[in-house]
Amino acid sequence: MPEYVGAVDQGTTSTRFMIFDHDGAEVAKFQLEHQQILPRAGWVEHNPIEIWTRTAAVIQTTLQRARLHAQDITALGLTNQRETTVVWNRRTGRPYHNAIVWQDTRTDRIAAALESDGRGDVIRDRTGLRPGAYFSGGKIQWILENVAGVREAAERGEAVFGTTDTWTLWHLTGGVNGGVHVTDVTNAGRTMLMDLETLDWDDELLSFFGIPRPMLPEIRPSSEPAAYGTTIPYGPLGGEVPITAILGDQQAATVGQVCFSPGEAKNTYGTGNFLLLNTGTDRVRSRSGLLTTPAYKIGDRPAVFALEGSIAVTGSAVQWLRDQLHVITSAPQSEALARQVEDSGGMYFVPAFSGLFAPYWRPDARGAIVGLSRFNTDAHLARATLEAICYQSRDVVEAMRRDSGVALDVLKVDGGVTANDLCMQLQSDILGVPVSRPVITETTALGAAYAAGLAAGYWRDLAELRAHWAEDRRWEPTWSEERREEAYAGWRKAVTRAFDWA
Ligand code: G3P
Repeated sequence: MPEYVGAVDQGTTSTRFMIFDHDGAEVAKFQLEHQQILPRAGWVEHNPIEIWTRTAAVIQTTLQRARLHAQDITALGLTNQRETTVVWNRRTGRPYHNAIVWQDTRTDRIAAALESDGRGDVIRDRTGLRPGAYFSGGKIQWILENVAGVREAAERGEAVFGTTDTWTLWHLTGGVNGGVHVTDVTNAGRTMLMDLETLDWDDELLSFFGIPRPMLPEIRPSSEPAAYGTTIPYGPLGGEVPITAILGDQQAATVGQVCFSPGEAKNTYGTGNFLLLNTGTDRVRSRSGLLTTPAYKIGDRPAVFALEGSIAVTGSAVQWLRDQLHVITSAPQSEALARQVEDSGGMYFVPAFSGLFAPYWRPDARGAIVGLSRFNTDAHLARATLEAICYQSRDVVEAMRRDSGVALDVLKVDGGVTANDLCMQLQSDILGVPVSRPVITETTALGAAYAAGLAAGYWRDLAELRAHWAEDRRWEPTWSEERREEAYAGWRKAVTRAFDWA
């Protein structure tokens, strides 16, 4: 059997390819960013062609640098930014529109209309989601309504929909020459179109958005021994490798963090934050603003579910300090700047750039900075930004405790922002629980590799994967209970100031 497993991670700001060995250790990686297209306030798009060419480039460069070939790779896993919607013509390969990104709020009105006549309840009940611009259903509807000729082509099955896993898979398996049109349960579960019970598209839900069924990909398990398809020899891998896993990036990180038992949770700090709590084969319904979502489905075993707290803006608030306000020149600099002060000087920053997601779900919210006085400096703002990441995570942890009755005894973290030592210390202080970071922080790509390797028989079982997990660093709370609760009460008040703005 070849020595390694590969994973493509098609994320919101970049795409990377990683190769792992049998111990789950990183052998090689390379990544490239793609353009964030912001045509209007609230709109966020990606160019699907750019995404594919960058994906192909990162695969080729990684293999070249590591001097590896398709024959060295046992299986390939795909993981991706979820919800981001591509509609393309399967005959020509041409997209009908730029990809509409998960952060895009243009379909707020489509989502609000669902609440006016009872369809919202059906969506909540059947999909575990809350009607919102975040999910793919409204984005597909928008493209069908706003681009000439798409609807007819969709009815013929010529215009097809996919999240970026499906778009990537289609290209890797041949594109216009017979590319495979498939997604997995974790991605399909983010469309408002899949019934959690049947794990299949639901005709009534499709009718809510006027979506023709022929345009949708087939839904398959996240880890698929039969493989969805094989890479084509004339593609970026230069040989045939079975593609045996697809997982949305947050679910992949859940697998990468080996959260395989009910009650285990991870928090990923990327452009946004996503906290997922494994609830086993039970679909726990949230009463506190969390989503019920498939965590993974391994072959023909029953699907495992999670409660999810999705936060739209965390790391991207740090990018905003860098790119829009120019108070820092690199994201890591936020730590040095924030360390210049002891606290945020009474200031709170609520980065509600795409409204507020969990647990508030307020599309009407917009960013707010409150509590300012003449005393405040850019250092306070940097600190308030890091604190906002942590307060939003606490909001979600509180909601999870209410829903599941389980109090976290430790929070497993991963993602880019976890390199920020101050932010992780603040997270532990604000939550009042230890925060633990694993040795391998690339848990998203690792999770996709795990799922692919399991399907291919490269790894035996979940227990073998669990043995790979090792802690790198732990942060313990240092604040008094009084300080913690006072600071959090200030945050709760600040959040309400962001409501009713859009
Ligand atoms: O739901 C959106 C999420 O999947 C995006 O994750 O890491 O690409 O920002 P990320």
